[in-house]
Amino acid sequence: MKPIALFVILLISNVFSEECSQLNTKYGHVCVCNSTYCDTVPELNVSAGKYQIYTTSIGHLGFTSTIGELQKSTNEVSEHKINLVKVSTKQKVLGFGGAFTGSTGVNIKSLPEAAQEKLLKSYFGETGIQYNLCRVPIGGTDFSTKFYTYDDNQKGDVKLEHFALDEEDTIFKIPFIKKAMNLTNNSLKLFATAWTAPPWMKTNNDYTGVGLLKFKYYQTWADYYIKFFEEYSKNGVNFWGVTTQNEPTDGFLPKFLSKINSMGFTPKLMNKWIAKHLGPTIRNSTFKDLKIIVHDDSRQTLPLLPLTIENEDVIQFIDGVGVHWYLDDLLPTSWLKYTKSSKKELFLLGTEACNGYRHINSKSVELGSWHRAENYIKNILTDFEYGSIGWVDWNMVLDQEGGPCVINNKVDSPIITNNTTGEFYKQPMFYAMGHFSKFIIPKSVVMDVQNEYSSKVKSLTVLRPDNITAAVIFNEHLLHTKIEILTKEGLLINTIVPGRSINTILF
Ligand SMILES: *[C@@H]1O[C@H](CO)[C@@H](O)[C@H](O)[C@H]1NC(C)=O
Ligand SMILES: *[C@@H]1O[C@H](CO)[C@@H](O)[C@H](O)[C@H]1NC(C)=O
Ligand SMILES: *[C@@H]1O[C@H](CO)[C@@H](O)[C@H](O)[C@H]1NC(C)=O
Ligand SMILES: *[C@@H]1O[C@H](CO)[C@@H](O)[C@H](O)[C@H]1NC(C)=O
Ligand SMILES: *[C@@H]1O[C@H](CO)[C@@H](O)[C@H](O)[C@H]1NC(C)=O
Ligand SMILES: *[C@@H]1O[C@H](CO)[C@@H](O)[C@H](O)[C@H]1NC(C)=O
Ligand SMILES: *[C@@H]1O[C@H](CO)[C@@H](O)[C@H](O)[C@H]1NC(C)=O
Ligand SMILES: *[C@@H]1O[C@H](CO)[C@@H](O)[C@H](O)[C@H]1NC(C)=O
Repeated sequence: MKPIALFVILLISNVFSEECSQLNTKYGHVCVCNSTYCDTVPELNVSAGKYQIYTTSIGHLGFTSTIGELQKSTNEVSEHKINLVKVSTKQKVLGFGGAFTGSTGVNIKSLPEAAQEKLLKSYFGETGIQYNLCRVPIGGTDFSTKFYTYDDNQKGDVKLEHFALDEEDTIFKIPFIKKAMNLTNNSLKLFATAWTAPPWMKTNNDYTGVGLLKFKYYQTWADYYIKFFEEYSKNGVNFWGVTTQNEPTDGFLPKFLSKINSMGFTPKLMNKWIAKHLGPTIRNSTFKDLKIIVHDDSRQTLPLLPLTIENEDVIQFIDGVGVHWYLDDLLPTSWLKYTKSSKKELFLLGTEACNGYRHINSKSVELGSWHRAENYIKNILTDFEYGSIGWVDWNMVLDQEGGPCVINNKVDSPIITNNTTGEFYKQPMFYAMGHFSKFIIPKSVVMDVQNEYSSKVKSLTVLRPDNITAAVIFNEHLLHTKIEILTKEGLLINTIVPGRSINTILF
């Protein structure tokens, strides 16, 4: 009897993925993971005549999978209809992910090793949400435990002879990046971003505050990027892209407004640095194929972006535009139109976002908040309407207070660790990201579909490279909603999605 019982157990564990171990919190719910247990995503198994739907709702986290039958006709009256009969195709998807900040590494490392594995599998594994596009800071950010660059206190080291990676790289970033690379079979795309040059290269001789790059170090600063890519390459980590400066606006803010590590560039100075230094240096190096991404800032300076992306000397070097979300509630969405160049097709990519950064009537971490997941979903859908090909979150993992953060400006993150229990909590934001990163796989083509009836239901529908159609359906209604999808073959999907939920239908 024993072998049979074992066989049955194995069979069951193969078929059913582990369910969310849900914990009620002040702000909602989270799924609790530890060294021995973590919820996974049920396997995708779409067969002819059937569809599969994954659901995550405000009251029920995790990914609940259900199989349904495609129907010929129906008398049901639906409240929202997605018509796939006449569609045109739009942008091709690049991917989704988050950032390997120093703090992310510190927090992962605070967990027992078995829990670390579960966490990395949650983000990158085949049974997880399969992040495939991640950002790596070049040196320190505000989400580090200290201020540093790779060539500190070396006044005028023009040859960068003292350039060296920090233990934040060797202990808290590279080991986890390599584990993530392994979990994705080396398909993880990485792009790098610098927050500030070493203080000695700057007008204010500081990491933060109002400071620009000194003209005499324009080439040194470009060479510094090459050094970074060389050092990471020696450690087995190669990059797909680079941005030209994190939030150049921050470099014009005095310390009483922002203490974020920063360096200011006006459009004119940025153009000069890209056209004469960064662009030629990268294109003439072994890293010549790197995608160069400009802006990497929030909306406030988008109206000035044409000065850069219509500039003959700059456009030849650049590939895309990165946007952050921090002022999206104050500035018009239509400003995303400034990311289009008349000279070249540039991609649009969300390169940073997080909740809990404005500490007015809100906490850094609001454990379990569904509202914060909705902020992610709505922003991704809006960016994609404007042609975005991906969306990258900020810190992947923070502690209970939303840190560590060298300037004590703590924020929220999809995964929060509890370093006293060795557990970690997957928040609604994690599942929101997952519906996109898991199912809207790279090279999927966004379809321009007809959505009818309900403005409280939004969708992103794509045709994947495996020919599976995936529709991420976001229901903002408080109540459940009847959804109908009319396929190209004239078949119907009729299903009911819960109130305040995100669902992915695949067929
Ligand atoms: C881990 O979580 C599972 C599921 O909630 C629980 O059964 C188990 O006791 C936990 N293990 C530890 C060491 O806390
Ligand atoms: C996938 O679906 C087919 C058809 O419904 C079924 O026969 C098969 O057992 C399923 N496979 C898994 C791994 O669930
Ligand atoms: C990685 O490769 C292995 C072996 O070829 C394969 O079984 C697995 O499905 C792949 N995983 C991913 C995420 O592609
Ligand atoms: C991932 O790591 C395992 C164990 O070290 C190794 O066997 C496997 O080949 C690695 N996979 C990839 C894609 O590098
Ligand atoms: C590479 O360097 C050479 C010599 O410095 C320069 O003439 C050329 O313009 C550079 N190439 C690019 C693509 O910038
Ligand atoms: C971490 O775990 C401890 C012990 O169970 C608990 O008191 C504390 O509230 C937990 N922290 C969070 C953020 O849930
Ligand atoms: C654990 O978390 C607390 C609260 O956020 C933090 O102050 C402490 O430094 C962390 N300890 C470790 C070892 O990460
Ligand atoms: C997807 O469908 C197209 C058109 O029917 C076909 O040419 C292609 O080979 C299919 N691709 C896969 C991966 O099945």
